[in-house]
Amino acid sequence: MTRIITLCSGKGGAGKTFLTANLGAALAEYRRDVVVVDANLTTPNLGFHLGVPLYPTTLHDVLKGKAKISDALYEHSPGLKIVPAGIALRDLQGTDARDFPNALLDLLGNTDIVLIDSAAGLGREALASLETADELVLVTNPELPAVADALKAAKLAEQLGTRVSGVVLNRVAGKKHEMKQHEVLTMLDHMNLLAEIPEDSAVQQAIARRMPVIHHAPRSKASMAIRRLAGRMLGYQQRLKEPWYARMFSFLR
Ligand SMILES: Nc1ncnc2c1ncn2[C@@H]1O[C@H](COP(=O)(O)OP(=O)(O)O)[C@@H](O)[C@H]1O
Ligand SMILES: [Mg+2]
Repeated sequence: MTRIITLCSGKGGAGKTFLTANLGAALAEYRRDVVVVDANLTTPNLGFHLGVPLYPTTLHDVLKGKAKISDALYEHSPGLKIVPAGIALRDLQGTDARDFPNALLDLLGNTDIVLIDSAAGLGREALASLETADELVLVTNPELPAVADALKAAKLAEQLGTRVSGVVLNRVAGKKHEMKQHEVLTMLDHMNLLAEIPEDSAVQQAIARRMPVIHHAPRSKASMAIRRLAGRMLGYQQRLKEPWYARMFSFLR
């Protein structure tokens, strides 16, 4: 069965697009078939993170009824495919975010995991992603405005019947002015913390090189945290926390 997961934050700039691209790449390393979908119909940029901003057929063509979703599906690297959105202004004419859930139907059954990069805000575009998904991964930063918006997104998901898997706390720099992890979680009604991703200059370097940071700098702190997140989402949490010698002993046993 295909898992449809949306990454949503409410606030823009929290790291949804960066995480969608990298989580997709990390889940593919776990040998899952993953499709990442750019659901930012007005300001798409997932293609930039994955190195190919211009695609001949996009989600916009699918929403206009001009193409099937399989025509807008491109292979990025082994196990990872992308459904990009059109980046030209004219792509917007004649598209309606309400058609988004139906447009994705054909992906079901052909893939293990669909990751939807949601638009900022909680307007029609973001709503379409929340409605389409089975699970919500909330993305936030350790600052009050981001956490307040994340809380709204979580409440909206609950109203729509989308399960909230937990929250990813992104861009943690350990600065004095930042909210502490427990403060964020308290504000989010003690939600499950899926991962804490550090502020890491390797992320910006990777974006400039238009490739996922887990490919550009696989040993960077951000990459390691993203891989742990991917493992955790697949239920491998315990094993990853064990030290290497414990894993060796369990293998010998
Ligand atoms: N962990 C991180 N470390 C450093 N920079 C980050 C990190 N996460 C995100 N960024 C920066 O924040 C910017 C905004 O992230 P993006 O994924 O586009 O946010 P959103 O999609 O939520 O609007 C990125 O372009 C990148 O420069
Ligand atoms: Mg984005």
